[in-house]
Amino acid sequence: MGALISVENVVFEYVGSQGQQVRALDSVSLEVGQGEFVAIIGHNGSGKSTLAKHLNGLLVPVSGRVIVGGKCTSNPDDIWSIRQTVGMVFQNPDNQLVATTVEDDVAFGPENLGVPPDEIAERVRAALSAVGLEGLELRSPGRLSGGQKQRVAIAGVLSMKPECIVLDEPTAMLDPIGRREVLDTVRRLSQQEGKAVVLVTHFMEEAAVADRVVVMANGRIEMAGPPQEVFARADRLRELDLDVPVAAFIASELRKRGVDVPYSVLTVDELANYVNSKVPSMH
Ligand SMILES: Nc1ncnc2c1ncn2[C@@H]1O[C@H](COP(=O)(O)OP(=O)(O)OP(=O)(O)O)[C@@H](O)[C@H]1O
Ligand SMILES: [Mg+2]
Repeated sequence: MGALISVENVVFEYVGSQGQQVRALDSVSLEVGQGEFVAIIGHNGSGKSTLAKHLNGLLVPVSGRVIVGGKCTSNPDDIWSIRQTVGMVFQNPDNQLVATTVEDDVAFGPENLGVPPDEIAERVRAALSAVGLEGLELRSPGRLSGGQKQRVAIAGVLSMKPECIVLDEPTAMLDPIGRREVLDTVRRLSQQEGKAVVLVTHFMEEAAVADRVVVMANGRIEMAGPPQEVFARADRLRELDLDVPVAAFIASELRKRGVDVPYSVLTVDELANYVNSKVPSMH
């Protein structure tokens, strides 16, 4: 897998309210491969959103650099093309929807790119199908559920045909059903649409389904690896004020009591399958 995005020794500082420098990223390096699903977790203020905004040039480093598809985000001439390669979805769906119908909303990006009408129609159809919202084309986005709104926002990014979608806590404002809808959609982007996905989340269950989990603390990458490895370090995560997924916690408690639950068990579904395989007599 070639690197689609390469973050190299990035330092970023905000100017604080007293004019002081606030270092939000401190020598961060990270690669996102084509089609890879990366989750970013970390406590409040650890730098997750600041890092996410570097991935498509919404912010540019004070030092170090970010390369997207061979282009540097610090070069203003390349920003337009970088924004098409890497799309962003934010926490609050209400701030991201602009039009009076779902289809117009999803068409907005390609219209601005000057894509011909026939192709726009096809892109809108494909994007709404990818997020499972066929049939809602003429609805008003304002009247949809939170999960549906967020899926419209994702479709709006998809219609730009990006290679990567960055989502910054897209489920934080949703109820459990909306959260599930959006997470299922994100997984589909990765597995069926072949998109690279960077998901910033504070829900460990969401991070557990990624290919790789990146843990941030104080503007640095504290650890990174497959979810099984990262969530096996429950004690270190607790020191960073982070949890492990509930199913991983139950699995580790079972292991302490001598039940040999594999470390690959991280989600409730996986735990249920494991229990089922061990206790067939319960049926
Ligand atoms: N606009 C800003 N001006 C000044 N400081 C900022 C600004 N935005 C963020 N910061 C600071 O930069 C650091 C990193 O913030 P960032 O928003 O990237 O963290 P985060 O991990 O996304 O947090 P959260 O979980 O709360 O979303 C924090 O110390 C924060 O206070
Ligand atoms: Mg944030």
